[in-house]
Amino acid sequence: MWRRSLRAGYRCFGRRSVGPKGFWGSHAVRACSAPAFPAGRITALQAVDLWKRHFEEKGVTEPHHSSQYIIAHLLGAKTIEILEQKKLTEFLSQEKIEQMWKLCTRRLSRMPVQYVIEEWDFRDLTLKMRPPVFIPRPETEELVELVLTDLQMKQTDGDVQHTCLEVGCGSGAISLSLLYSLPQLTVIALDQSQDAVDLTRENALRFEDHTALDGGKDGLKVIKQILTLAPQILSNYGRVYLEVDPKHPPLIRQWVEVNVEELHYVETRHDITGRPRFCILQKKKSNKDHELDLD
Ligand SMILES: C[S@@+](CC[C@H](N)C(=O)[O-])C[C@H]1O[C@@H](n2cnc3c(N)ncnc32)[C@H](O)[C@@H]1O
Repeated sequence: MWRRSLRAGYRCFGRRSVGPKGFWGSHAVRACSAPAFPAGRITALQAVDLWKRHFEEKGVTEPHHSSQYIIAHLLGAKTIEILEQKKLTEFLSQEKIEQMWKLCTRRLSRMPVQYVIEEWDFRDLTLKMRPPVFIPRPETEELVELVLTDLQMKQTDGDVQHTCLEVGCGSGAISLSLLYSLPQLTVIALDQSQDAVDLTRENALRFEDHTALDGGKDGLKVIKQILTLAPQILSNYGRVYLEVDPKHPPLIRQWVEVNVEELHYVETRHDITGRPRFCILQKKKSNKDHELDLD
């Protein structure tokens, strides 16, 4: 699960904006006082509430999400919602409490939460964030979408090899997202800031585990295996729900019609950004069962 947008109307998945956008440096640090270190034990949920209230009192923007994102991060998750209840209600170790106080005190000094937790989501990527490099804006995802749509249209024109030049790459969000969606693209990213160039390079090397995304030549390797096996484990009318690359639904439909006669392709659903992302398939009633019905 990605971090969610905080601003009303901005997509369900992914990114949000916590704290000021743009450059943030040590000059921006404000004097701040953290709440007293807890004498007794404290759970993650209690900590979220305690820091939310403290951020509120001190006028930190988006206090609840700030508190949630920091504490989720400490517990190794992107959001509080994906953590098991047990993890939220058990007492935190002393080490975790100390880390939490350190990170929350940074937020109290108005450091954007992206810098506090040192990473943020941009489209499908989780990128490392570090001052003074610019934190990508959520709106920039729309620019990437626009460029991708254009490039994808051009690709149908023929086998032309496209090259993009990004001037002012910051964390590398735009270039890396383009490459992520169109690996055959050549991208040159430059920035006048050495910090930005270094961070872009780090982010390029930090991609998620490629095997987690490797679907083989046509991107459907794992999906085909799932759909081949599905009829064996589904009961009649049992369903398969897939989240796939937006290019895949028509290919999956076609492949299933030819190769898995026990499955019926029910429909394709769109995600909140309007991209065809979800495939629903259903096991047909087997002929054997029809025969049994007749008996
Ligand atoms: C507003 S940030 C945008 C960063 C990134 N494109 C993004 O959307 O997250 C602008 C970037 O342009 C860089 N920049 C500014 N002037 C530049 C120039 N003349 N040549 C190259 N990079 C420049 C800055 O260092 C900064 O990283």
